[in-house]
Amino acid sequence: MGEEEIHTWRSHVLVLPFPVQSHINPMIQFSKRLASKGLKVTLATTIFISKSMQAEAGPVRIESFSDVYDEGGVKEGGSKNDRIELFKDVGSKYLQELIEKQNRSGYPFKCLLYDSVILWALDIAKKFGLIGAAFYTQSCSVNAIYYNVQKGLLSTPIEGPTISVPGLPLLETHELPSFVYKIDSYPCILSLVLNQFSNIQEADWHFLNTFDKLEDEVVNWMAKQSPTRMIAIGPTVPSMYLDKRVEGDNDYGLHLFTPNSETCMKWLDTKEVGSVVYVSFGSLASLGEDQMEEIAWGLRRSNFYFLWVVRASEENKLPSNFVEEISEKGLVVRWCRQLEVLAHQAVGCFVTHCGWNSTLEGLSLGVPMVAMQQWVDQTTNAKFIEDVWRVGVRAKVDEKGMVRREEVEVCIREVMEGERREEIKRNAVRWKGLAKEAVDEGGSSDTNIEEFVARVLCI
Ligand code: UDX
Repeated sequence: MGEEEIHTWRSHVLVLPFPVQSHINPMIQFSKRLASKGLKVTLATTIFISKSMQAEAGPVRIESFSDVYDEGGVKEGGSKNDRIELFKDVGSKYLQELIEKQNRSGYPFKCLLYDSVILWALDIAKKFGLIGAAFYTQSCSVNAIYYNVQKGLLSTPIEGPTISVPGLPLLETHELPSFVYKIDSYPCILSLVLNQFSNIQEADWHFLNTFDKLEDEVVNWMAKQSPTRMIAIGPTVPSMYLDKRVEGDNDYGLHLFTPNSETCMKWLDTKEVGSVVYVSFGSLASLGEDQMEEIAWGLRRSNFYFLWVVRASEENKLPSNFVEEISEKGLVVRWCRQLEVLAHQAVGCFVTHCGWNSTLEGLSLGVPMVAMQQWVDQTTNAKFIEDVWRVGVRAKVDEKGMVRREEVEVCIREVMEGERREEIKRNAVRWKGLAKEAVDEGGSSDTNIEEFVARVLCI
């Protein structure tokens, strides 16, 4: 690196996301936003993840380390907990070496921006005298629920039928994150999400991937729980999709699966405005074969054009001959560039599992939604989509926990052409405007980011 380049850097931030698609994406996008404000940003991740990143994530430098899974996949007999522990062992050693190496280079890191589920990162920040900044990848409402459980303000198992949490509307038990109302389902992930708040008093900054107007009451409430600044900096959607362009903020992101971009775009280009239903269940959810069949025939019955992302690992659950039978009406792909699809004028409805990134992307791009929540935070996000932001409808599950084909059809029709269509569309357009306003120059999230950048530059 040349002398000149060193002097154009204003301050150096080290970013450490948890190595899964849905955590890395928002942290890359936020890193690019920081870089566009003049900070030098280095993102450290596993070799496997770094190989899937495109164009070196633009202005963000990528450093990678081996966690044994360099080719992806899982280790025979290994549990989720083993993998989390391994990431901690190799990640913490690597991070310290990287910080020491950077110190010797004469241009040290000033801040460690870490995924809030990686608790040990804050210890490293403190050890090296760096600013420790936690990035929360879920909605603030979901964070508030986990916070209340972690602090013992909400005791589990939850006694229904309704639950009151400060800053949130009254929630029914099943609208809480699934880990909270089915407390024993995934103990290692439950402890990961609850422990995010165990050192809330020690972190120097807290970043929420939301915007003030979207979750104002609960953002204010959460901010009061921390002695240091907790601020909303989202949505972390690249500026090019929000009808504006910030230099360097292109759609570089992470795609752990190969996107079938050209096929999708060509197909969408042949369709009329608002005529296509886009369906995706994110990067992790695994649906039962029966449920896949109900969705397949529900889409068919609705008779709208549809673009359905079915990951390779889920393909064998599709009804036999389905892809051939629906070829006139539907396109099934293994992965797409979701933002590009949601931004396409042909898309009129998003059938989503309500992962937080998908929810925020749908809202920010003004696409009406059908919520088909599966687990974790999705149950709470779905409640907000229907009842709070009023940008979609929630599919009803039957006594066996299934969404039947008739329900899939009814929900899609409601959003595409039903009585509530106009109201839902109006709200979607309004939220799109508010999301853009938040990240535009002088907007609430932009001002918050500026405040952080100014402080990092001061030290
Ligand atoms: C997981 C959890 O399931 C979710 O509930 C939680 O909020 C975050 O962690 P995931 O299921 O992958 O995430 O969903 P989501 O948060 O929506 O993230 C998926 C990301 O993959 C989105 O950014 C979406 O744009 C992207 N995506 C998805 C694609 O780019 N292409 C696709 O075909 C599908």
